[in-house]
Amino acid sequence: MFRYKPLPQDEAGAPPRKGAGAFIASSRIALDAGQHPVVALRSHDGGMGAMLLVADPGAGFSAKARETLENTLQRFASGGWKREALEAALVGGAENAKWKIAKWREALKQFSLAPQEYDLNGQFYRKVYFEPKSGALNVFREEADPDHWNPAKAKLALHDGVRAFSDNHAGGVVANATRFFREKITFRALRELVLPVHLEQAAGEPFYLWSAACSTGAEAYSYAMYLHRLIGRAGANIDFRVFATDINEKLLEGAKKGEYEIHKRDLEQYRPYFQRYGRLEGETVTFNEELRRHLTFGVFDIRNVPRRRGFRMIVCANVFQYYNDDARGHFLENFASCAARPGYIYVGPVTPDLLARSGLRHVPKYKLLEVD
Ligand SMILES: C[S@@+](CC[C@H](N)C(=O)[O-])C[C@H]1O[C@@H](n2cnc3c(N)ncnc32)[C@H](O)[C@@H]1O
Repeated sequence: MFRYKPLPQDEAGAPPRKGAGAFIASSRIALDAGQHPVVALRSHDGGMGAMLLVADPGAGFSAKARETLENTLQRFASGGWKREALEAALVGGAENAKWKIAKWREALKQFSLAPQEYDLNGQFYRKVYFEPKSGALNVFREEADPDHWNPAKAKLALHDGVRAFSDNHAGGVVANATRFFREKITFRALRELVLPVHLEQAAGEPFYLWSAACSTGAEAYSYAMYLHRLIGRAGANIDFRVFATDINEKLLEGAKKGEYEIHKRDLEQYRPYFQRYGRLEGETVTFNEELRRHLTFGVFDIRNVPRRRGFRMIVCANVFQYYNDDARGHFLENFASCAARPGYIYVGPVTPDLLARSGLRHVPKYKLLEVD
């Protein structure tokens, strides 16, 4: 039996381990789970226990969870504990990692394990202290503030970006949420303004779009699908390329694979796109070569000036809110320096101050900044 207990304050003693994987032991296991849900496993006799944490973003998650679980069950089996002799618990998961709970449930079910579920309230980050012998599962919950490094609350300075975003498990807080066709207005802008301007002013030349903080890449693939369709419909004989970069290498690894589990809601809305540009199996899409050859992924920190130039559109969505105004101004300068003329930049809402400072023209209808 598990004996769950929320701790009113953190345990003194050795700091819990950080990181992902399977932590297997016969004695106490302490894990800083951050925002991730964790699975605890123990043998009924208390002889062995494990805590499992999978941090993979996006499509790779389910497969990694299954693999981690399978390997762990083999370790139990080689110690003489068959699956029937085990019990499982599922703990935690903060708001932005809650979707992983359902994936873990599925994975556990495949191995005929029905977990006890504790503390699935999404507001907290957790440290979990597990004692396999007694089944004690002590959980310390922390709000995302004030001791954690929380980019969503901080107004980061220019040089803080690397520290805040490059480690996928830094301080237990990651702000990498993204979705297909997320910023609706940008697709409308491409259709009604940006592509027509390009076709008029640079007939026959390739169209370059930069997704400047692409996270796991859903945004970049969305633009590639949309542009492919749009250019085809316009009957324009031009090539196009979507450059997609992020400061976080781990997120890009997922993006390069081009394989995603699609949220049901997105599947309902955009199914024809996924079918046209990929192989759709259940809720998983694998994008095809025809589309992928239009995409280039790379690690890039937007505080640096890009070497490549001539981007007709630059999208840097859901990033500015993490940074202070100096950093935002600097990013805008970098973007303007490598945009085509005219070029269009989307960074979400901008303050009048920042706008004045940037010297760029505002196109309110499409929430764009124009470089001319
Ligand atoms: C909330 S996600 C937004 C993803 C996507 N643009 C969207 O709107 O769906 C923020 C992303 O910005 C990236 N990021 C933060 N600072 C950055 C920097 N200085 N250079 C490049 N990427 C950065 C993070 O790694 C993260 O993937």
